[in-house]
Amino acid sequence: MSKSLFRKKSIISILKDAQDGLTDAHGGGELNKVLKVKDLTALGIAAVIGAGIFSTIGEASFHGGPGVSLLFIITAVTCGFSALCYAEFASRVPVSGSAYTYSYVTFGEIAAWIIGWALILEYAIGNIAVAISWSGYFNNLLAGIGKGLGINLSFPEWLTSNYDSASPELYAAAPHIFGLPVILNLPAFIIVVLVTYLAFVGIRESKRSANFMVGLKILVILFVIVVGAFFVNTDNWTPFMPNGFSGVLKGVSAVFFAYIGFDAISTTAEECANPQRDLPKGMIYSLVICTVLYILIAFVLTGMVSYSQLKVDDPLAFVFNAVNLPKVSFLISVSAVIATTSVLLVFQIGQPRIWMSMSRDGLLPKRFSIIHPKFKTPSFATIVTGFLVGVPALFLNLTVVTDLTSIGTLFAFILVCGGVLLLPKQEKDPHSKRFSLPYINGQFIVPAIIIIFAYIFRNELPQRFSFAGGWDVWKHNIPFFFFAVAALVFTFLSFRHKLSLIPVLGLLSCFYLMTEIGFRNWVVFSIWLLIGLVIYFGYSYSRSKLAQA
Ligand code: ALA
Repeated sequence: MSKSLFRKKSIISILKDAQDGLTDAHGGGELNKVLKVKDLTALGIAAVIGAGIFSTIGEASFHGGPGVSLLFIITAVTCGFSALCYAEFASRVPVSGSAYTYSYVTFGEIAAWIIGWALILEYAIGNIAVAISWSGYFNNLLAGIGKGLGINLSFPEWLTSNYDSASPELYAAAPHIFGLPVILNLPAFIIVVLVTYLAFVGIRESKRSANFMVGLKILVILFVIVVGAFFVNTDNWTPFMPNGFSGVLKGVSAVFFAYIGFDAISTTAEECANPQRDLPKGMIYSLVICTVLYILIAFVLTGMVSYSQLKVDDPLAFVFNAVNLPKVSFLISVSAVIATTSVLLVFQIGQPRIWMSMSRDGLLPKRFSIIHPKFKTPSFATIVTGFLVGVPALFLNLTVVTDLTSIGTLFAFILVCGGVLLLPKQEKDPHSKRFSLPYINGQFIVPAIIIIFAYIFRNELPQRFSFAGGWDVWKHNIPFFFFAVAALVFTFLSFRHKLSLIPVLGLLSCFYLMTEIGFRNWVVFSIWLLIGLVIYFGYSYSRSKLAQA
């Protein structure tokens, strides 16, 4: 049994399956190979810049102050390590499926299933968060337009809220059906339906729309940075960390959420003209561009008003209202709506492609890999994604889904970084343009880094392991405890086996960020994984293609 749980796919067989157009066997034909570096970079930026920078950064800045820009740098470095590991995999295993396929090759089937299951958190649950944020900005926009025209254009509050966030007044004011108040987020549902339709009708159409939306949002973000810079009052930058470093760390989930997405383009490997060369470039370029923009935005935002005013859902629009530029604020609301639409689109494209890969491997029913004969997209999986995202978006609250998305994605990143360590060594062909992760020997560097960090945080470490406050306090240290064990193990392994530095640092830094997302989210995430395992053993284990072989 344990052997079959770790059965692995070989890279050669995966590539062969993809080249043979395995999809034909399930009806419909192959995917369209139309994406190039420019499109992939655009898709990456389309997925990254969205609800995070337009919404969740507000609360992160409120807790962290201007120091939140430091968190943007730390998170960018962490994502950078992971992006390089994704890039290595993308160049070695250039098929759809992203981290799911990568884990199948390196860790074996059970890990692949777990990661596929965790990726649902990143794509589908992440998209619920984005749809909710979209709805907030869209409704603000309608309100703004209505105000200009002297009419009320916005949705009533009971159609843009959820049971969790609604006030007692809203409960009373909402219409009732069979005695139950009706409170739901209708715009969030509608946008998911529209974007799912776009993802359904074709990658070419999706590519065109993504390219257009990305161009526009980069222009607007640049505009915000340049115009905002004139309104920066440098006094607002002191104190730099008003609530200390722990205040800054409260923003981990929100800031990490803002970076999620560059990895999503690896799901389109089979729609790339030259995935081994272009996918790694697309991922790295999009991450670098977004990092620069984010750091600048963080400085501008916290320089324009005091951090203490930033606990709002629409911080970028808010700061321009605060400096009496309502027209710019309006422009930002428009671009926030566009920006978040493009995030929705990329994730709505990504999720079905992961299911398609899992279905090809026999872990999900065959219908999930059916390719539409006319539109050349995984049609059934796309429609299921639409339901999975659209219906919960009607009812859920933003913070819950943001935290779950961040923790699930960090987990996926950890497995991808760990997977790179298990890849067989490959000599680089000097004539090949394929991306290859540079090997830096971690034998002494990893132990040195761990010792330096342990020294810097020497005063806080005893607190992390103290039982003084009883279970209620200590339980919050459990994630850090796991991290400490992982750090020791990888220090030893790096020293002993001269492990490659970049994946080890990627793995440890993602693990550390995960510890900052809170015990409650770890519990919910663990339950999510358990449900996944029940499905695996109940359905997929015996139906797996590898099992049948
Ligand atoms: N990074 C994406 C966003 O901020 C998920 O919307």
